Amino acid sequence: MKKQIIAHASGRINIIGEHTDYNDGFVLPAAIDKKSTFKVWKNGTESTCNILSEHFQITHQFDLKDFQPVKSGWENYVMGVVSELQKLGADLSGFDGSFDGTVPIGSGMSSSAALECSLAVALNVLFDLGFDNWQLIKASQMAEHHFVGIKCGIMDQFASVMGRKNQVMLLDCRSLEFEYFPLELGDYQLLLLDTNVSHSLANSAYNERRLQCEIGVKALQQKYPTIVNLRDVSLVKLMGFKKKLSEVVYNRCKHVISEDNRVLAATKALKAGKLDQLGELIYESHHSLQYNYEVSCKELDFLVDLTRNEANILGSRMMGGGFGGCTINIIKKDFVEEFIEKAALAYQTKFDRTLTPYQVSIEDGITVE
Ligand code: GLA
Repeated sequence: MKKQIIAHASGRINIIGEHTDYNDGFVLPAAIDKKSTFKVWKNGTESTCNILSEHFQITHQFDLKDFQPVKSGWENYVMGVVSELQKLGADLSGFDGSFDGTVPIGSGMSSSAALECSLAVALNVLFDLGFDNWQLIKASQMAEHHFVGIKCGIMDQFASVMGRKNQVMLLDCRSLEFEYFPLELGDYQLLLLDTNVSHSLANSAYNERRLQCEIGVKALQQKYPTIVNLRDVSLVKLMGFKKKLSEVVYNRCKHVISEDNRVLAATKALKAGKLDQLGELIYESHHSLQYNYEVSCKELDFLVDLTRNEANILGSRMMGGGFGGCTINIIKKDFVEEFIEKAALAYQTKFDRTLTPYQVSIEDGITVE
């Protein structure tokens, strides 16, 4: 019988730390119970691959010796991973595969990283490639840069692979050192509310934000040549430089630097069981993403505003890249059902759209069968 490898890789949540990863900052993500599942097996050919998306019921064929990105679509995630593994020296032969998943697409839970990582892990086992987790994480990230065209940071692929049951991870995106610690929320829990919108400018706006941070760094380097990126800049230093930066660039930098501070403060608060403080930091994060980084949207803002007068909700903010997707909320367990009903009705009335709630659990990132 053919040897078939089945790899599962997770979507992720992020407690706090948005748009900090590609600025060498800090993030606080965890892997969740929503997964991408990739099955692969060798097909006996030298270099032909056939991959079926079970969701779209479309098969994509490509030749390992000669393939290019398509205009857009899931095919690029698949071929991108293959291409990056080849760059690392993977000696692949023809294989077939199929994938499916439970990470909602466009929800900010990183279905794309889950897809990339599940394939990278599956191929690593099928062809006995011997790559370590960090090589698979970086190959998956680079697939996104080179085949999908999004210059994403490392957070999503990191969380997808390294996630551990009931643990959040504080990752230093500069040193790549990370620490696991349990998410202990007592009478509270996480609740994601999916706006079910995914605005089309998300990809170009993402790359534009990254560029604006680089412009800020270049300007700061004129005066402080040792600065490598925003990780090296304090808020005080940035404020002293305000007149030399455009308002937009200043605000982008302000978000990143203050968000890094919030991640560290939130980690401290969480470890000390100070959930009120954690909640406040989460609200501050949203405020900064909305006004300084400008990656929120009216649907996300509406959902966050809806929580502000609720004594049973400690914090709420947009999660992930932005321009749609989910809010993440810290909510009293016995208030969840009531609030979902209330929020769904308000959201439907305001936008004529369905709101989708997710009560996710934190799970191991990857498993292989
Ligand atoms: C997307 C990217 C991540 C990260 C977040 C924002 O999910 O893939 O690398 O930058 O946006 O925090």
